[in-house]
Amino acid sequence: EKGGYPHFMLKEIFEQPRALADCLRGRLNVENSSVQLGGLTDIMDRLEGAERLIIAACGTSWHSGLVGEYLFEHLAKLPVEVEYASEFRYREPLISEDDVMLVISQSGETADTLAALRTARERGALALGICNVVGSTIARDTDAGVYTHAGPEIGVASTKAFTTQVAVLTMMAILLGQKRNTIDSAYAARLIRELNGIPEKIEKILDHSESVKNMAELFTYAPNFLYLGRTYNFPVALEGALKLKEISYIHAEGYPAAEMKHGPIALIDKMMPVVVIAATDHTNDKMISNIEEVKARGGRIIAITGEENSEVIDLAEFNCPIPETEDCLSPLLTAIPLQLLSYYIAVNRGCDVDQPRNLAKSVTVE
Ligand code: F6R
Repeated sequence: EKGGYPHFMLKEIFEQPRALADCLRGRLNVENSSVQLGGLTDIMDRLEGAERLIIAACGTSWHSGLVGEYLFEHLAKLPVEVEYASEFRYREPLISEDDVMLVISQSGETADTLAALRTARERGALALGICNVVGSTIARDTDAGVYTHAGPEIGVASTKAFTTQVAVLTMMAILLGQKRNTIDSAYAARLIRELNGIPEKIEKILDHSESVKNMAELFTYAPNFLYLGRTYNFPVALEGALKLKEISYIHAEGYPAAEMKHGPIALIDKMMPVVVIAATDHTNDKMISNIEEVKARGGRIIAITGEENSEVIDLAEFNCPIPETEDCLSPLLTAIPLQLLSYYIAVNRGCDVDQPRNLAKSVTVE
């Protein structure tokens, strides 16, 4: 059932080109530059007129929600707040009928996410969901939603669920941007074409998994890791750190790169691998200074960056070059080497990758 792979996690990492293609199929029309999300048709008017989008989720799904915040602000000019479902439900959130609540959950059964959804609905918000498991409790409890169609995710560490959630958020943000007239039509056409080609680019990254495996050998016994990213790749830094923590039990932290100066820089020495996620965008110069600051303190740089970003590639000690893409689509690619890195490190450490200690696939109790 693992299709020849030693673990479900590795199978699911390698399934991503197919999972993404299934997620995008029938929804993207490259010829006429349009996005169709059948599940949202009935509520589109209300979504279009929303004053604010609140995204609530837990764990990896919360990270995809953070990517969603950048996407909706950029493409649909819609104010967004991203909430930990567990915090949101116990606050006194100010919600009105002009708000839209979007919950994100692979399993569709996470107790806190379900409670956040119900809190928002009780206060009159439109409730939308992005789920993987068809017919799950959250999917049934929302007014409308979009399935990720990633196929069953068995490994406890979420991989293809994350990338397909980000793909759905991207399609939603483009569609909403087109409806709200906040996205330039040539740019929308370019994004749709590029998104359609993402499964192939993921395939290319996976073709180089051996080099990530070799790199993992060198860092198997590192006691700590730091992950740094900016803009769309700040949430990817958080996600990379979470993946490493949960399956290899190595302490790891993800930060927005500029926050490094406000504390974590004190940790950096030659024992400290620093994973820099530097997709080539308008923050590239800033990332380069961050890399120099780490190097000046003896830190070891592993860079996940666009293959044409020679400045970063030359500065880094280790590199995972990825195909170039539009800035806002880069998390779909940068997440992949980070999944592989944590997988290979965990295997080297003899950890039970598919069933990490203390973790359950879906958290149906608080
Ligand atoms: C991380 C992981 C968890 C889940 C979280 C939410 O790899 O698996 O952090 O992402 O428990 O689960 P869902 O998406 O099912 O609501």
